[in-house]
Amino acid sequence: MKKLLIALLACSSLTAFADDVAAGRAKSDAACALCHGAIGIATLPNAPSLAGQSAIYVSEQLKNYRSGKRQNAVMGVIAMQLTDADISNLAAWFSVIKVTAEAP
Ligand code: HEC
Repeated sequence: MKKLLIALLACSSLTAFADDVAAGRAKSDAACALCHGAIGIATLPNAPSLAGQSAIYVSEQLKNYRSGKRQNAVMGVIAMQLTDADISNLAAWFSVIKVTAEAP
């Protein structure tokens, strides 16, 4: 019984996470992709790539831009419009994008 409950809880949190990723992707398509790329590989030369970035890092940076702790004219304005839910969805989306690195 206890095991079943744990399995059910695990499933529901996985579904919730998938929802977060989907919502984050939709938000990114609408508000971030222009500069950070459709799958998080930056298309603007001075914008960083976010693909594969850890969710904690992305959400911390967005909260810092929003509060003014990290200052940037562009990201400050963008982050001001994000709710906590937007931030955690966006962080979930960028963190699940798989990236590979290759030495030159
Ligand atoms: C008009 C272009 C533009 C748009 C649109 C944009 N960004 Fe940015 N973003 C930038 C630039 C430029 C920087 C670098 C700012 C700096 O130097 O702090 C940046 C930095 C960031 C960083 C910090 C990355 C790091 O490595 O520290 C995060 C996270 C981020 N953006 C997320 C987002 C999200 C999420 C959205 C959509 C809601 C978004 N950005 C929309 C241009 C943009």
